[in-house]
Amino acid sequence: MADVKVEIRGNGPLRVIGEIEIVDQSGNNYTIPEGQWVSFCRCGQSDNKPFCDGTHRDCGFEGVSEAK
Ligand code: FES
Repeated sequence: MADVKVEIRGNGPLRVIGEIEIVDQSGNNYTIPEGQWVSFCRCGQSDNKPFCDGTHRDCGFEGVSEAK
């Protein structure tokens, strides 16, 4: 099993827990504080894409996800 966990937050972002590398379309790395989780925007409203900035709480985003 990988040491990376992706958690789909109800009505919120994708939270990635574990060591990952994130690169932009040019192959440049984003700086991620060591030991921290990262949240990727799922609502499309973040001003800091691809990361979540909390805007989903104010825009009425609904994104329920339950594993089956
Ligand atoms: S999911 Fe948080 S700002 Fe989009």
